[in-house]
Amino acid sequence: MTKRKLVTAALPYANGPIHIGHLVEYVQTDIWVRFQRLRQNETLFVCADDTHGTAIMLRARKEGRSEEALIAEMREAHIRDFAGFDILFDNYGSTNSDENRELCGEFWAALRKEGLVVEKSIEQLFDPEAGTFLADRFVRGTCPKCGKQDQAGDNCECGHTYTPADLIDPVSAISGATPEVREAVHLFVELEKLHGFLDEWTQNGKHLQQEVANYLKGHFLGDPLRDWDISRPAPYFGFEIPDAPGNYWYVWFDAPIGYVASTRQWCEANNQSLSDWWLSPDTEIHHFIGKDITYFHTLFWPAMLKVAGYQLPTKIHIHGFLTVGGEKMSKRKGTFIKAETYLNHLNPTYFRYYIAAKLGPRLDDLDLNLDEFVTKVNSDLVGKFVNLASRAAKFVKDTGLSATYPDDGGLFESAAKRGEEIAEAYENCDYARAMRTIMELADKANPYIESKAPWVLKKEPGNEQEIQDVCTVTLNLFRQLAIYLAPVLPRLATQAGELFGESLENWQQSQAPLVGTEINKFKRMLDRVEKESVDKMIADSAAENAAAEAAGAGALASAAQGDDSAEHLEKEPLADECTFDDFMKVDLRVARVVAAEDVPKAKKLLKLTLGLGGDVTKTVFAGIKAAYDPATLVGRKVVMVANLAPRKMKFGVSEGMVIAAGPGGEDVFLLSPDDDAQPGQRVH
Ligand code: MSP
Ligand code: ZN
Repeated sequence: MTKRKLVTAALPYANGPIHIGHLVEYVQTDIWVRFQRLRQNETLFVCADDTHGTAIMLRARKEGRSEEALIAEMREAHIRDFAGFDILFDNYGSTNSDENRELCGEFWAALRKEGLVVEKSIEQLFDPEAGTFLADRFVRGTCPKCGKQDQAGDNCECGHTYTPADLIDPVSAISGATPEVREAVHLFVELEKLHGFLDEWTQNGKHLQQEVANYLKGHFLGDPLRDWDISRPAPYFGFEIPDAPGNYWYVWFDAPIGYVASTRQWCEANNQSLSDWWLSPDTEIHHFIGKDITYFHTLFWPAMLKVAGYQLPTKIHIHGFLTVGGEKMSKRKGTFIKAETYLNHLNPTYFRYYIAAKLGPRLDDLDLNLDEFVTKVNSDLVGKFVNLASRAAKFVKDTGLSATYPDDGGLFESAAKRGEEIAEAYENCDYARAMRTIMELADKANPYIESKAPWVLKKEPGNEQEIQDVCTVTLNLFRQLAIYLAPVLPRLATQAGELFGESLENWQQSQAPLVGTEINKFKRMLDRVEKESVDKMIADSAAENAAAEAAGAGALASAAQGDDSAEHLEKEPLADECTFDDFMKVDLRVARVVAAEDVPKAKKLLKLTLGLGGDVTKTVFAGIKAAYDPATLVGRKVVMVANLAPRKMKFGVSEGMVIAAGPGGEDVFLLSPDDDAQPGQRVH
């Protein structure tokens, strides 16, 4: 017997509209849910708006309305946008609900009972005018190191990092007032006491992708886990902590509990019991999230569930980020595209297919390349898939399908055999592979109808049977693909079902051909994507963003876009202090990449030839293979350590190092000087 599955996608913040970056996740999850249902697994899909926190409070204040009014409006917009992309939740709740408040109380009582909550007094900047404590990103001031004005609360453009209390002339981004240092008592959860459990749960190879397990091990689990600051003093938009009046649960405490609360809401409306879904080993729990919120879902959340005696997630499926044209989505360039803006111009089916074709089981970022979007959708969906039906259906509208399935040279059968392989790819979130396999099958079906050419047969009398047979085969191959694609393309699956007078709702339908039935009149299924519509969408999007910027920009607006998570991301601690003389020992130079080549036998290395002006060059082996394509490096300027002692490596001698930021792997970012810096110039 298959297990029941409870599936969640992350709860979107109620302080902004749904954009195409979010939609990667909701489409990914919706596909998985539809796939499970097609496989006849009982599946429940819940989500909710994440409504609490400082950002929402400040925005409501600024707009002169209650938080409740703000979140009600956002909720309506979110629900509309999700529906527009055919994302179908069984329940869409809110973290600001009675169910959630009650469950938070229950989780909290469990943490208290285990003796995991401690009080600690901490110093924080306070805005006396706004009457609120200030998270780091709400403070700006002059860098204590280089003197640059209007820098963020925790780091300067010069690269120096500090705490807001170190800033010279700090100001509150909310009111402009000078903040004061105030002491406040916060409640902390002693996560370290669950270290053993978290080690086991994250590293046992069952619940997380391998790269996530490694990341947690490398970044958090190697050291004692820090206490988790779980309360915020008033004023705060959230739930007041019952046994600590004047304090509120931090948004990241009540947000994941929102998964349970939304499930409870559904249970109550559908006569089911919450314990069947969250307390029963017969239910699998699957969370889908983006990589930016890994920490909360893989450490705090399992810890909370464990302590409260709830079922732990079966799997946390983590995806990478969407970029557009190889870059972070940009408001200025119009590539920060809201769901609503997209839907004004383009069919959601295109997006669902394109994203599916890009999504693999790993955490790699995925890029929306607008030219590729147009060609891929047109060539795969219109050219290879829908065309099968549109070319064949008209010839059998009066006769229906042949009474027995004709000889098709094994096409249907061999495509049926690949069903399990496709299913496995869906199951493992390797949609890219599933789409590739399906298109391979389409590539076999198309030559069949082209060579049989019913439109040619039609010209001569006496070919009626052959025409019916050819179209029976073609339409069956189309129907089979429609079932395989149904999780991704629900609208097309419905249209295909209408053509055959049935409902395509069971994967098994792909395993046996349909014969002897009537065929309904073919209705146009999908139009080609027009490049002009894409261009218009981008232009509209840029204009909207510019208008929004003009209406209410500033530090607050951009600070409020973030969530509160940044406060908690572990920063790499500063290295031991060094003297100016120590620093001057390192000779940093501007260099130009003259040549870059892959080192095929090395996992990480590229071989770079760096020009330092004149004909001075140095060879450097740099561990940047996962992040850069060598061809894109040639010609660009980088910064190198030019006086590093040469190092003999397996593949040759490395005569220096290029300077880069980031943790490694794909997240490596080469630094480059401004345009006019010349190769050979010293950096200091
Ligand atoms: N409210 C939190 C989640 C709480 S879950 C208990 C949150 N909200 S969010 O609105 O910022 O993001 C919602 C989801 O969308 C997250 O999983 C996030 O990773 C994902 N994405 C947001 N921007 C994205 C891209 N550009 N690309 C892919 N996914 C992105 O985080
Ligand atoms: Zn500075």
